[in-house]
Amino acid sequence: MNLREIEEFSIALAKGSGDILRKYFGKIENIATKSTGIDLVTVADLESEKHITDAINSRFPDHDIIAEEGENTKAGSRYRWVIDPLDGTTNFVHNIPIFAVSIAFQIDGKTSVAAIYNPGADKMFSAVLGAGAKLNGETIKCTSTNTLSESLLVTGFPYVHDTMYDRLFDIFKQFYDASQGVRRFGAAALDLCFVAMGRFEGFYEFGLKEWDIAAGTLILTESGGTISDWDGSECPSSGVRVLATNGGVHSSMIKVLSQHHKHFISQDSSV
Ligand code: IPD
Ligand code: CA
Ligand code: CA
Repeated sequence: MNLREIEEFSIALAKGSGDILRKYFGKIENIATKSTGIDLVTVADLESEKHITDAINSRFPDHDIIAEEGENTKAGSRYRWVIDPLDGTTNFVHNIPIFAVSIAFQIDGKTSVAAIYNPGADKMFSAVLGAGAKLNGETIKCTSTNTLSESLLVTGFPYVHDTMYDRLFDIFKQFYDASQGVRRFGAAALDLCFVAMGRFEGFYEFGLKEWDIAAGTLILTESGGTISDWDGSECPSSGVRVLATNGGVHSSMIKVLSQHHKHFISQDSSV
């Protein structure tokens, strides 16, 4: 498997989906809901997903696909594509250009190639395992900041507003007090890329899905960043808890998140 070819293919797919999303941006009339009344899906999500999965099925008919809107193939292949055809749908329907297409290519469960495209800013993030990460072809790196007080952080909140809701705001307050600020942009794939390119020092979230983090994880680690569970153990590939940092503030963020970790463990299957 030539990973550079897979990277080129993934970038082309992400750009093609970017064109589809641009076509619908500002013109969405029908919005459906999924898990809750605020978990949205549009024709743009569906068309973007079909564009990507059709192309993969035609070039690699024996590969597995897991895509958010359900265009899945499960043949038991060691090659697997993990796709979020529109990350940041809520921003998209409100005409906010912070949204992305996220494509990960995995071999034996490990992401080996990633492409994340933000059509609003024409920013293409990509990475190949062991070969670094790029933004529009230029190498990117995380910052070297190692104190939380000099850090800017980013997070997100789940669509399900359950018993964890208040606790998530407690965590937000702790980080807000300890850092230069905590932003909430609404597109997890881009949050990871923004840590990778040095805009933020750290990102944490609860309740994400595999397609939200699969590509961004590789872009982050290939930029020198660190990713883990909230207690410092291996990051669950499900996306249920993620801590992604520049490396320098990782242990400081674990100190805060590990205080809360046990309350979020029992939630693993409910999100
Ligand atoms: C969402 C975004 C958001 C995060 C949500 C995700 P979607 O993805 O990544 O930042 O907070 O949990 O579900 O639904 O726009 O693809
Ligand atoms: Ca998403
Ligand atoms: Ca999505």
